[in-house]
Amino acid sequence: MDRISIIGGQELHGTIPISGAKNAALPLMIASLLTDETLSLVNMPNLADVELLTRILGNHGVDYSVNGRREEQGVLYPRTYNFHASSIVDTTAPYELVSKMRASFWVIGPLLARCGEARVSLPGGCAIGTRPVDLFIEGLRALGAEIEIDRGYAKARAPKGLIGNRYVFPKVSVGATHVLMMAASLAKGETVLENAAREPEIVNLADCLNAMGARVSGAGTSTIAIEGVASLSGTTHEIIPDRIETGTYAMAVAMTGGDVLLEGARPELLQSALDTLAQTGVEIIPVNSGIRVRRNGAGISAVDITTEPFPGFPTDLQAQFMGLMTRAKGRSRITENIFENRFMHVQELARLGARIQLSGQTAVVDGVETLHGAEVMATDLRASVSLVIAGLAAEGETVVHRVYHLDRGFERLEEKLSGCGATIRRLSS
Ligand code: EPU
Repeated sequence: MDRISIIGGQELHGTIPISGAKNAALPLMIASLLTDETLSLVNMPNLADVELLTRILGNHGVDYSVNGRREEQGVLYPRTYNFHASSIVDTTAPYELVSKMRASFWVIGPLLARCGEARVSLPGGCAIGTRPVDLFIEGLRALGAEIEIDRGYAKARAPKGLIGNRYVFPKVSVGATHVLMMAASLAKGETVLENAAREPEIVNLADCLNAMGARVSGAGTSTIAIEGVASLSGTTHEIIPDRIETGTYAMAVAMTGGDVLLEGARPELLQSALDTLAQTGVEIIPVNSGIRVRRNGAGISAVDITTEPFPGFPTDLQAQFMGLMTRAKGRSRITENIFENRFMHVQELARLGARIQLSGQTAVVDGVETLHGAEVMATDLRASVSLVIAGLAAEGETVVHRVYHLDRGFERLEEKLSGCGATIRRLSS
């Protein structure tokens, strides 16, 4: 298994290109199941999760091809992926595939809407919490689906098609909002989703669905209305820049000091995280080509955060912010409100010398002057990158094990950071 070695202590200076958003790309790829025409997605990130979902969709009959290239630092990367589901050959998503990536459960919505049936393995728990699927089941039932849970599978049927309805989410869920929006696009009549997720990735999907001929309005607010249509067509759609990657590199610069342009980043996608970072003493400067992040020699101020659904502080940046706070002047309180077990990074940060006490859903972090490099273990995607951020500022060498977690969601992380002066490299085993 690959590891990443970091020798801490370098400031970051230069430009980091921001990739297309993983969490927009995945639901957009799944939307290709809704039409027998080609859906072309521009600005696709090159990630392990994208590769895996390509294989999962292939199992249902989705062909794909790649065209267009983008050049970064002299290297060419694929840019546009074309997905084509001329016919659905299998409406079962088996355990072997769904268990590898939770978002693949989301195929249940499009398969049900297009084929009137779907049999999808329950995704099970994961490192950050139990993550049930009750809202998906309840919401699809509200649209007329018959769903039973049998031997680890959700078996869904809608022989006469889905029928529009009003559904109020008892809790905000990004995934369930994506799925109901997709399913309702091919239902008969109007669906109104209340207390819907407002994340930018929801808006990105709604824009794509509308370009495919759907009638979705209100995405980005907590009430989304969808007027069902008989069929959807293909289109070409651009994936938004990754706000979590943006926030991660902004925190890396906040940690090391320096001056970096996050090229292609859009501040409105992560305003609350940028406002919080500014309070820690970093300059955040929106420019035409992205966001410039700058911190001079002054120390890092301690700031409290609480994770919330968008537009609040994102849970996907909580671990990285904790990494930053390990070196702040004073005490900060970090409260996780979205997932019940998203503190796996705490014990690994402690191996680098961080002082963190857990009390229920809150981590109390007392900043220390110096972190010391050590061997640490990545436990999930965002936790692993918090260890990289801490390692960039630690004295000596930090080695992060199990970097396959990082490869799921960060494109060419070590190249992007070393391009700005960090001493970071991948050790292949
Ligand atoms: N929940 C339920 N029942 C459900 C669905 C969700 O109780 O049926 C709960 C979850 O257990 C959690 C809360 O609702 O406590 C919110 O979960 P949500 O459904 O919003 O999360 P998700 O759709 O599974 C997406 C991202 C996550 C991100 C969350 C929250 C993708 C592919 N994943 O997950 O991203 O943390 O929204 O913003 O979009 C990551 O990229 O590292 C990642 C985990």
